[in-house]
Amino acid sequence: MRSQPFSIVDKAIIGFDKALRAVIPHSNPSTRPLPVSSDHLPELSIDEARHVAGLMRINHTGEVCAQGLYHGQALTAKNDMVREAMHHSAEEEIDHLVWCETRLQELSSHPSVFTPVWYGLSFGLGAAAGLISNEFSLGFVAETEAQVSEHLQDHIQQLPENDIRSKEILQQMDIEELQHRAAAIEHGGTPLAAPVRTTMRWMANQMKAVAYHL
Ligand SMILES: [Fe+2]
Ligand SMILES: [Fe+2]
Repeated sequence: MRSQPFSIVDKAIIGFDKALRAVIPHSNPSTRPLPVSSDHLPELSIDEARHVAGLMRINHTGEVCAQGLYHGQALTAKNDMVREAMHHSAEEEIDHLVWCETRLQELSSHPSVFTPVWYGLSFGLGAAAGLISNEFSLGFVAETEAQVSEHLQDHIQQLPENDIRSKEILQQMDIEELQHRAAAIEHGGTPLAAPVRTTMRWMANQMKAVAYHL
């Protein structure tokens, strides 16, 4: 039987389903298990657990933003090239989202209450970038991934020494974020102007300050 191309209604339903899965915890299956070497849960003091949960909530928010960015970009991309180039990265981002959700749950904590807002903002930015050009859109992904890698490195330094579990998760995410950056550049992403990079960094800092607590 010949498969039919998706209609606009089909695409809208698929898009809505993806958006809901990005903002509703535990609604995505992970394709890979947690990248940890042991099932042992580290013993943390209340203050340590609270701090790690704040960091993981920021990282979870970053992954929600990645979902919004990739979905928005796919909506307005000038052709299928960007969508296909970023498909593998977008799939890995779903695993990152699930890993962060899992670690937050282990810490008896929760994702940011503003998750739908973070998704919506990132979706809008991704869609706007896609409207400008493929090169800008991929450049936007490359810069986002570079900034995510910087904050993952910062968080790894801030983890309590015995929280090897969170460290292993963040290290694997960092390896893959840098691969996503390389893929975006390889497919034609161009460097962004300094004011755009500065604005992105400022926005990320606001998001991090809120998501750490809420
Ligand atoms: Fe990620
Ligand atoms: Fe990424």
